[in-house]
Amino acid sequence: MSTMLATRRLGANGPEVSALGLGCMGMSDFYGPAAGAESLATIQAALDAGITLFDTGDFYGMGHNELLLREALRGGRRGRVFLQVKFGAQRDRTGAFLGFDARPSAVKTALAYTLRRLDTDYVDLYQPARLDPAVPIEDTVGAIADCVRAGYVRHVGLSEMGAVTIRRAHAVHPITAVQIEYSLMSRSLETAILPTVRALGIGVTAYGVLSRGLLSDPRRRPPAGPDFRAHFPRFQGENLRRNQMLVEALQGIAAEKGVTPAQLAIAWVLSRGVDVLPLIGARTRTPSARSTSRSGRTIRTGSRGPCQPSRSPAPATAQRKW
Ligand SMILES: NC(=O)c1ccc[n+]([C@@H]2O[C@H](COP(=O)([O-])OP(=O)(O)OC[C@H]3O[C@@H](n4cnc5c(N)ncnc54)[C@H](OP(=O)(O)O)[C@@H]3O)[C@@H](O)[C@H]2O)c1
Repeated sequence: MSTMLATRRLGANGPEVSALGLGCMGMSDFYGPAAGAESLATIQAALDAGITLFDTGDFYGMGHNELLLREALRGGRRGRVFLQVKFGAQRDRTGAFLGFDARPSAVKTALAYTLRRLDTDYVDLYQPARLDPAVPIEDTVGAIADCVRAGYVRHVGLSEMGAVTIRRAHAVHPITAVQIEYSLMSRSLETAILPTVRALGIGVTAYGVLSRGLLSDPRRRPPAGPDFRAHFPRFQGENLRRNQMLVEALQGIAAEKGVTPAQLAIAWVLSRGVDVLPLIGARTRTPSARSTSRSGRTIRTGSRGPCQPSRSPAPATAQRKW
């Protein structure tokens, strides 16, 4: 059963995809143990809700996330979705990050492995997860462009890159979308990156729309155990306490509108422009269903107003990784 979720065009010349995307990272990595069967059920529920945009990375669970998507998209579902894949992060057996490799040979090798794991002939959008400081972006994007010409990749994307790098990359091959953190808490892209991508007709796939779960719960405890978020300053000590005050304010506004803070936070990102597509990370069906049920359809948000309370402290965010 499929319902009518709104669609948006990804970049000026990209395809129409669901206005919300499902971020699959947490199903394999960073946010605690993988959820197994519930992950498959969550992807199926997202498909049923009309989600067609799915985000993954070859380093999410070191291949686990791609294998999960392969399993979830069996039986003819692959052709119904837009799969975007990040690559380049190097990890060891323990999962520790070793660096980044976006040399042309590494691009083509990583893509070959990804296609095998996903059991598909092409990825819809392929993007370096970060800039490799040792490799000119022209070389990395040039290698992906080779893969486009070979039919293995349909669109080229970038993740977490600055305005100058985006322009240089776009000069080599049209960039369809840039992936970057964007939320009520994280708005630094608005200064230079957003004007740049808009001038070039590049879309934005926004991650961290719920500030990694911070925006959904004013009583959120500091992450513990294997949860990678424990390392983020936004979840620590005084930062967390100040951020919780902001989320309490958001909760009050959400209650007035009859929605949850998470739904309001998603609607706010959707309201930034039709070229901005939120990716919402969910490991289980419940948050995923809540994200698609009302966000961005009937909730009115303003660019000013109580979403940005003037007397509240500034959000304590800083430091992002994957
Ligand atoms: N390019 C990059 O550098 C980069 C970095 C990070 C992430 N990403 C991509 O972006 C995706 C999303 O990012 P993210 O997962 O880090 O952050 P996020 O979407 O801001 O937050 C995810 C958290 O919010 C919770 N949540 C989701 N929907 C909710 C709802 N309706 N109500 C209450 N809570 C809800 C999830 O809960 P549960 O855990 O219980 O499901 C999870 O803890 C990732 O999956 C990944 O694909 C890209």
